[in-house]
Amino acid sequence: MILENKHIVLGITGSIAAYKAASLARLFIKAGAEVQIVMTPSGKEFITPVTLSALTGKPVVSEFFTANDGTWHSHVDLGLWADLMIIAPATASTLGKMANGIADNMLITTYLSMKAPVMIAPAMDLDMFAHPSTTRNIEMLKSYGNIIIEPASGELASHIVGKGRMEEPEKIFEYVVSFFEKQQTLSKKKILITAGPTYEKIDPVRFIGNYSSGKMGFALAEECASRGAKVTLIAGPVSLETKSPNIHRIDVESAEEMFEASVEAFPSMDAAILCAAVADYKVKEQAKEKIKRTGDEMNMLLIPNKDIAAQLGQMKNKQLLVGFALETNDEESNAIKKMEKKNLDFIVLNSLNDTGAGFQHDTNKISILSKNGEKEDFPLKSKKEVAFDIINRIFN
Ligand code: CTP
Repeated sequence: MILENKHIVLGITGSIAAYKAASLARLFIKAGAEVQIVMTPSGKEFITPVTLSALTGKPVVSEFFTANDGTWHSHVDLGLWADLMIIAPATASTLGKMANGIADNMLITTYLSMKAPVMIAPAMDLDMFAHPSTTRNIEMLKSYGNIIIEPASGELASHIVGKGRMEEPEKIFEYVVSFFEKQQTLSKKKILITAGPTYEKIDPVRFIGNYSSGKMGFALAEECASRGAKVTLIAGPVSLETKSPNIHRIDVESAEEMFEASVEAFPSMDAAILCAAVADYKVKEQAKEKIKRTGDEMNMLLIPNKDIAAQLGQMKNKQLLVGFALETNDEESNAIKKMEKKNLDFIVLNSLNDTGAGFQHDTNKISILSKNGEKEDFPLKSKKEVAFDIINRIFN
């Protein structure tokens, strides 16, 4: 049911596993999806377009133009039409072209124009799969937000046994089904997320800031977006990119700007996750000109910033409100006090005493405390996995 009327672009490249793409296309069609095949020229050496168009009921697209009448095939239209693009099998050569934007065939131009999520099922010999060039290309593709369906281990076309075999069509099909199911779990939700540090200006060239990288908040934004939520991400100064089209990003610099943007967005939200490391203080008077060195001691008067979490806690209607606490001592009792003071439903605690947790790292180790007094501890994980755990916990 979940695939009913879904538009799937199935890319096929020149691998012996291309024959399995016919079974995959058939599974999609039987589940009610519309399938448009896009093949590379070498894909056609392994399976004929006639077989595939008979299965899908649509002409296979492979060239930029139809030779006899000059009709142009629009990769841009395909990019807009699709709910999902899946390249199965994807050869080492296609992975390299996708990673580097080498648009010399219709499949790559379609990929580059794609507005929908992209899944990739690599297929190649084990040495090719293990080569650093393939590893690097796969990492690059992951960094673009593409989903890699890892190849299985087994006997390869070369009769060598190892990792490189394209995953079986039934498994890929299940993967696609659970992907669409997951996309719906938060589909009606609007979620506000604050992320990153804030910079409080001292003079035109200096600021008070902190080491927050924004990685945790961005991972949360991507996780919510991948489950179909509409995310408003209010980000302090960070050097991170957002990938999902479901994320509306508002860049701010100071706590004051983050406060204004959050308070404006909050009333229409279903939930807010406050992950930003907001500066607690700002300088009372910003210098208009660069402050000169005098050699004497210098005093700077700091005044408190507004507390976004506490403000949203007061404004809260039916929204779910989640905060973070980064503590160095009396972690749990400090976190509980914060949750109560700010009227939060959950607080995610990380301790600077845990190695690999907190600012700058790609990993985090958290506990989630709820206002009902429950506590769940998680081991050290990547921030992407931590985001997965947090979202599972707060929306279950
Ligand atoms: N927070 C906020 N606005 C602020 C300060 C904090 O929204 N001006 C949010 C953070 O995003 C986090 C939670 O409040 O979700 C707790 O942040 P933290 O800095 O640990 O709390 P503080 O109240 O500032 O307490 P502390 O004295 O430990 O700094």
